[in-house]
Amino acid sequence: MKIVSSFDYRCDVLIIGSGLAGLSLALRLSNKYKIVIVTKSKMNESSTLYAQGGIAAVFDKKDSINSHIEDTIITGIGLCDYDVVSFIIKNARQCIYWLISNGISFDKDLKSSKNNIRYHLHREGGHSHRRILHIADRTGTEIENNLINKALKEKNINIIEYIVAIDLVVSKNNNLLIPRRAVGALLWNKNKKKIETCFAKAVVLATGGASRVYQYTTNPDISSGDGIAMAWRAGCRVANLEFNQFHPTCLFYPPENSFLLTEALRGEGAFLIRNDGTRFMLDIDQRAELAPRDIVTRAINDEIKNHNLECVYLDITHKSKQFIKSHFPIIYNKLLRLGFDLTKDIIPVVPAAHYTCGGVIVDKLGRTDLDGLYAIGEVSYTGLHGANRMASNSLLECLVYSQSVSEHLIQTLPDVNLADYLSFLNRINISDQYYLSDIKLECYLNKIRKLMWNNVGITRTNQSLKYAKHEISLLNKIISKYYNNCLSDKLLEIKNLLQVAELIIISAMKRKESRGLHYICEYPYLLPNAYPTILIPDNYKHK
Ligand code: FAD
Ligand code: SIN
Repeated sequence: MKIVSSFDYRCDVLIIGSGLAGLSLALRLSNKYKIVIVTKSKMNESSTLYAQGGIAAVFDKKDSINSHIEDTIITGIGLCDYDVVSFIIKNARQCIYWLISNGISFDKDLKSSKNNIRYHLHREGGHSHRRILHIADRTGTEIENNLINKALKEKNINIIEYIVAIDLVVSKNNNLLIPRRAVGALLWNKNKKKIETCFAKAVVLATGGASRVYQYTTNPDISSGDGIAMAWRAGCRVANLEFNQFHPTCLFYPPENSFLLTEALRGEGAFLIRNDGTRFMLDIDQRAELAPRDIVTRAINDEIKNHNLECVYLDITHKSKQFIKSHFPIIYNKLLRLGFDLTKDIIPVVPAAHYTCGGVIVDKLGRTDLDGLYAIGEVSYTGLHGANRMASNSLLECLVYSQSVSEHLIQTLPDVNLADYLSFLNRINISDQYYLSDIKLECYLNKIRKLMWNNVGITRTNQSLKYAKHEISLLNKIISKYYNNCLSDKLLEIKNLLQVAELIIISAMKRKESRGLHYICEYPYLLPNAYPTILIPDNYKHK
């Protein structure tokens, strides 16, 4: 064991994660500060890369900021923070223009001209107007790759791939003159199989969500809730983790992972049907296929369970071939390779875990409970999404918070002197590591994800939550034996997934009602008053 006394990397701001949240923040800060971005896979691997639908903002003349606010709040069922919703939506247009000024070219309307630019807007569930800016169905890929290229050209930004942040380095608060503060992170270098460290004046978690805790998910493997787990271990409160969003329409084709079929398909007229061709959403909600996601997902789940089916179907065959191919080229081509013709065939779909509505509690400047630690993007809980996120509001949240965190840091980044903090650093347990076989760990990983899917999924019961909690604590006991002696990519992932699974289950147990994405059979009703579920770690220090 040793105490860290020097750091492998130093910078002004350490950003953990290279999705939209991390990249947009880095680009906004790079004029003034030295930035290190660490990212645990290939640099563009992120949920951002796979976003299809687009970004919500008011660009239609018939639409209004108030309408976008109202739709978000209705979708969030009593748990959105009005102040935050209005803050984000009022900043939406300027953030879209920031993206445009950084080279993102959103699809234009046919009536658009050089002097009168008009964007083509998609419509998605919960939105009362067309307001989703997009680049066909490859919005995320265009944005992610473009911003990566920009960041790579900035001399003040250093992106380091295949580095997993293990934990935050936090100064101790046994000296009243120097408050407890995040001053860096412990890092696992996947290529060198070695622990490294980074010191920074501020640390930003931009690590994305935790949907990988579920067996079926639209998310890439990186979404293992690392930021939530790290912040929790460092003493930060988390909120609303019972609200994990399940996207209604993912391709049901078992050899393939849950490939997303964007909600924009339904926005452009696709129906959800049974295999006899009948539509079932008409009986459930007057908004039919464009009801918010929690409603559509539960309806599909009920259809599948009640009629013992494997899936339901998405049908857009009534639209012209030309329309489908030009609006959804990525989906069309992907399906064609798998043997489905979107223009002629009905497509088998099932729900899958998609988005973590809760997360690390932050204020409007992205500040967490720990000095020097910020959280932005899907890892954070801002109050925007409430009990159910409205489609295409999450990329927007990444953009608005990277703007507010950057403005705050540009004004306030303190001159933190490493020497002041060194003697107060936690003792960091770094043993000689050795590589642990991943085969056994893979079994544990699958067990956790299956357990969560079956017991803490689209519907829950008191019994299923109790069972899941018990099993997670058993798995924790088994896995914790490994923590101190060895490290591997898988072990780090499992450690964080277990932590997040436990927090999700505890949050779900606390909510004695069904609201939005949280449906529990014993309490199928809404309570009259809505409160967020806030969990407080033992080492939380009130500021
Ligand atoms: P991400 O983009 O997920 O990036 C997280 C980054 O953190 C990655 O670089 C990852 O490698 C890194 N990381 C994680 N843990 C560590 C660690 N321990 N150490 C180092 N690095 C780490 N939202 C919309 O608004 N509109 C859409 O159309 C839309 N479509 C979607 C489609 C799909 C298939 C998916 C999965 C999501 C979609 N979403 C959409 C949601 C949206 O894409 C995400 O919420 C958003 O991209 C999150 O951005 P982020 O920067 O917070 O995280
Ligand atoms: C989609 O395109 O259906 C996903 C949009 C989102 O998750 O916001």
